[in-house]
Amino acid sequence: MIDFEVKTRFEFAIDQLIQQGYAIVDQWLSADMLKELSAAINERYDLALFSEAKIGNDKDLLLNTSIRGDKIFWLDQQLAIPVEKEFLCIMDDFSDYLNYTCFAGIKLHEFHYAVYQPGTRYARHKDQFRSNDSRKYSMVLYLNEGWQQGDGGELMIYTNEDVKVEPLFGRLVFFRSELEHEVLLSNFERKSLTGWLKDHI
Ligand code: OGA
Ligand code: NI
Repeated sequence: MIDFEVKTRFEFAIDQLIQQGYAIVDQWLSADMLKELSAAINERYDLALFSEAKIGNDKDLLLNTSIRGDKIFWLDQQLAIPVEKEFLCIMDDFSDYLNYTCFAGIKLHEFHYAVYQPGTRYARHKDQFRSNDSRKYSMVLYLNEGWQQGDGGELMIYTNEDVKVEPLFGRLVFFRSELEHEVLLSNFERKSLTGWLKDHI
């Protein structure tokens, strides 16, 4: 059973997704959860648990840091700490809700932390691979305390219009994975929890 407040948040996001192909939600998680997730990404990064992100999938994985400059750490349901488990549970509930209200057919999700060091970016791309279109919805939770104009690292989403999203602390962005998007050059250590809702493996 999901409570009324959670349901309202889900509906707010889904309405935007249906109307414009993307949704921006600023009050999705509690301040406590955000604080804990923020501590968790910092801790895992300090322990050097991150690796260079690659482009493509399985057979044609490529490392090209001028196209994609982030380092990532995949969440694992078994090894997750409580706040990460809680986050993944919320995504389970959200997937169920999308399936129930929109017949979205979401069967699984995957999430990683991402850190962009100053001077890095992610060039314009789609999150669906040529050989696998299982990613239906992309979601990014920003963990940047004190982000300011000029820090860069905004997300551009290219739909009918070009949408520029500031990577503000606690902001969650959803978009259809077939939409082209880009992470603009970041001038600071840009942190997020990023993932995909998928309809098959
Ligand atoms: C990605 C991506 C967007 C962002 O990881 O594929 O496009 O704002 N991320 O971090
Ligand atoms: Ni992307």
